[in-house]
Amino acid sequence: MNAAIRAATIVAVALGHQPVGIRNGYRGLISGELVPLDPAHVGDALRRGGTILQSARCPEFHEPEARRAARAVLVDAGIEGLIVIGGNGSLTGALHLSDPTEAGDWPVSVIGIPASIDNDIALTSLSIGVDTAMNTIVEAIDKIADTASAHGRVFLVEVMGRDCGYLAMTSAIAAGADMVLSPEADRTEDELVDSVVDAVRAVRARGGSQRVIAIMAEGIETPTARFKELVDRRLASETGQPQADIETRVTVLGHVVRGGQPSAFDRLLGSRMGNVAVRSLLDGAHRQMVAWQPPVDAVAGVGERSSHDPYCHLMPLDVVLEATRELLDGQSPLARWRASIFDDLHDVFLL
Ligand code: F6P
Repeated sequence: MNAAIRAATIVAVALGHQPVGIRNGYRGLISGELVPLDPAHVGDALRRGGTILQSARCPEFHEPEARRAARAVLVDAGIEGLIVIGGNGSLTGALHLSDPTEAGDWPVSVIGIPASIDNDIALTSLSIGVDTAMNTIVEAIDKIADTASAHGRVFLVEVMGRDCGYLAMTSAIAAGADMVLSPEADRTEDELVDSVVDAVRAVRARGGSQRVIAIMAEGIETPTARFKELVDRRLASETGQPQADIETRVTVLGHVVRGGQPSAFDRLLGSRMGNVAVRSLLDGAHRQMVAWQPPVDAVAGVGERSSHDPYCHLMPLDVVLEATRELLDGQSPLARWRASIFDDLHDVFLL
C-alpha cells in the first residue's frame, strides 16, 4: 500500500496538486486526521510493508451518520478527490460514502485501489499484497520442508486468506506442497481428513522423500489443531495402533503472512495503481476501482481500459462489489473455475 501512497503523492505533486493523507482509515477520516503528503517524506515508503498512514477497523462507518461526518471533513478541507486503498470492506465504504442518494451533489470524486492479501476482490486479477504474501508463504514452506523431509513428517500449514483459498492454492503450487485444503472445494471434514490420509499413503507408496506438506486455507472451518487430531486418529486407526508412527505437526503462519518488505512486483503494482488513480481522478473518474487486467479483453463489456496504463482498467465500484459477492458465494464463473481447479489438481499434486 505504501507504494500506492508514494506514487499517488509524487504524481499528484508533479501535476500541480497538494496531496493529503488520511491517517487510520475511515476512523481517522471521521475525526479529521489529515496530514499533508510530500514526495520528500514518502520516498522510501515503498520499501516498507503495511501503510505509513496506518489503518483501523471502523464499524461505525456502516452508519449514515458517520459517513455524513466524513463527507463534511473532506469538503471542509477542500479535498476534491479521494483514493481508498483497501479490501472488500474499505471499497464498500467508498461506495456508500459516494452514494449519490445519500451524498447528494457532494463535490468529491472517489476511486478505489484493491489491496488485500486474500485476493478476494473480483474483476481485478490481483490486489496489492497478494504477491508479497505468497512469497512469504513459499519462503516459510521452503524452511518447513527441511524438517518435514528430514523426519518424514506430515506438516499442516495454515495460511491466511479469510474465506478465499486463493493464497493457499497458489502458494501450494509455488512451494511444491503435496496438497491443499481450501473452502472452495466444498468438502466435508471427513473428506478433508481422508484426503490428507490419501496423500500420506500416496507419498509413502511412491518412495523418495516421505514428507507431506498440506497447505490449509484459513477458511477451512475445522481449527487446524483439531484437524491434526482427526488426521492423527485416522492414521492410527489405519495401522491398528493407539498412536500412528507417522508424526504430524501444525504451523499456523498467521499475521507473518500479512507483513514484511513488499515484493518488487507488489511495489510495481501499487505504484502503477497509485499513478492511474490520481490521473483518473483528474480525468473526472468517480466511483471506480483501478483493476489490474492484462491488456486483453478479459472483461469485455465491463469497465474501461485506462488510457494511462494498458494493464489497468477502471471498473465501476458497484459492479466490482457485486461480482465480489458472487465470487465469495461461489456463484461467479471464476469461483466455479477455482472450485473445479481444486478438484482437478487434487491428484496432480501427488504425482
Ligand atoms: O483480509 C486480510 C486478512 O489478513 C485475512 O486473511 C485474515 O483473516 C484477516 O485479515 C485478519 O484480520 P485481523 O488482523 O483483524 O485479525
